[in-house]
Amino acid sequence: MIEVQGVTKRYGDHTAIERVTFSVAKGEVLAFLGPNGAGKTSTMRILACYMPATEGTARVAGFDCFEQPLEVKRRIGYLPENPPLYQELTVTEYLTFVGRIKGMNAGELRSGLARVLERLALGSVRRRLIANLSRGYQQRVGLAQALLNDPPVLILDEPTLGLDPKQIIEIRELIKSLAGSHTVILSTHILPEATAVCQRVVIIHAGRIVAEDTPEQLSSRLRRSEKISVVVKTPPPDLADRFRALPGVLNVFASTETGGFLLECDLGRDLREELARFVVGNGWGLLELKTVSMTLEDVFLLLTQHEEGMEPREDGAEEARQETAPTQEPSST
Ligand SMILES: Nc1ncnc2c1ncn2[C@@H]1O[C@H](COP(=O)(O)OP(=O)(O)OP(=O)(O)O)[C@@H](O)[C@H]1O
Ligand SMILES: [Mg+2]
Repeated sequence: MIEVQGVTKRYGDHTAIERVTFSVAKGEVLAFLGPNGAGKTSTMRILACYMPATEGTARVAGFDCFEQPLEVKRRIGYLPENPPLYQELTVTEYLTFVGRIKGMNAGELRSGLARVLERLALGSVRRRLIANLSRGYQQRVGLAQALLNDPPVLILDEPTLGLDPKQIIEIRELIKSLAGSHTVILSTHILPEATAVCQRVVIIHAGRIVAEDTPEQLSSRLRRSEKISVVVKTPPPDLADRFRALPGVLNVFASTETGGFLLECDLGRDLREELARFVVGNGWGLLELKTVSMTLEDVFLLLTQHEEGMEPREDGAEEARQETAPTQEPSST
């Protein structure tokens, strides 16, 4: 439904994105994840026909963004980074104006308006001037204009920017509910957002795509070793060395988090059973034994700290963490 093929964008002699290639299948929700300045907005502007690529092609719903922008625009809802809201209009006036531009007739406009006012919780402010709305409410109006005519493709540039936690959850639910019936690409620099709403993540860094996969695959793909956390009730003083001597164990760290040990083991080898036998057989008391995987946050940092992208760091940045859902919430910048 969305096909980006070898797209490069240069501003003067500054290359914002370079040979970016990815696609989004019909009904898929894709996160375009990257740090500030990575090239997310540039890519989305090209998809929304706001500016042409310097090289390469972008197609939406089978139409070329450069050759057939009207056909593309008819099928997309676009939330720009800074939605062009008319400050002197009320919410209803503005959305009515947008609906007319989109070619909606009176009936479509009435039902579309009712739907977005309800889904974006804008009913209470619909008669207020946009200029007087808070940042979060203005963002919701921006989303409302993108969703107004229920287009099959949605291009959302940081849709939850500036929203409060309750609204973030609601907007994420709203985006999730679009999956299947709509094709969505959303940009974000917030990992939990990508994992919470998207089936697939494309990570962009310094204008280049450094990874593309499901959130789960991304975190497992970049492992160099299996990691197992072991907590023992009465460990002998030399337990770390004893673990290290076991076949398949590459390295042993004392874990401050669990008070136990973190074992790095051969990739593709599950030593849990042997470790359990070893600890229990020696009568040390096994309190906990589990595999640990890198969080998506670890992967993201690993990928975006280095130009090479896929090269793991040698200084321990890949250190395993407990497998917990990332809890970081967006800052309101
Ligand atoms: N109109 C422009 N003229 C010159 N350089 C630009 C222009 N727009 C963007 N850039 C540069 O292109 C690069 C990518 O910017 P872009 O806005 O696409 O990044 P982004 O991933 O959306 O970042 P953010 O998370 O901060 O929104 C940056 O280095 C930026 O400075
Ligand atoms: Mg941006």
